Amino acid sequence: MIGYVMVIYDYDIPEYDIWHMMIDESNQGHGYGSIALDLTIEYIKTKPFGTSDKVTLTCNMDNIHALNLYRNKGFKETGAMDEDEIELSLMLS
Ligand SMILES: CC(C)(COP(=O)(O)OP(=O)(O)OC[C@H]1O[C@@H](n2cnc3c(N)ncnc32)[C@H](O)[C@@H]1OP(=O)(O)O)[C@@H](O)C(=O)NCCC(=O)NCCS
Repeated sequence: MIGYVMVIYDYDIPEYDIWHMMIDESNQGHGYGSIALDLTIEYIKTKPFGTSDKVTLTCNMDNIHALNLYRNKGFKETGAMDEDEIELSLMLS
């Protein structure tokens, strides 16, 4: 295994949340994170837990590598923050 990502469904909002996306350090920068995020979004599009077109995650404001990845996939900052974490969302269509 070289990576891990968790998909949560928040029934209260409702929305899909991506948690703990990570690729092993020795395998970073080879495109695996990008592929993993594409596959995760494709999985969420099947609506495995409920109907929502919203995908949300948070990322540390200093984590430029991850922020670039999320922004390149269309995630936009919502304006919400939790301490050093920026919230970003993607609307599926
Ligand atoms: C963030 C993470 C998941 C990205 O995985 P990865 O396999 O290294 O990423 P990829 O090689 O697929 O690169 C995807 C994008 O990240 C960005 N990126 C990659 N290497 C980068 C670098 N050295 N500096 C800045 N941005 C970089 C680029 O936008 C890249 O897109 P591009 O190939 O079109 O330029 C991985 O670095 C990681 O696990 N980091 C530690 C845990 C973490 O911070 N997780 C995110 C929590 S919010």
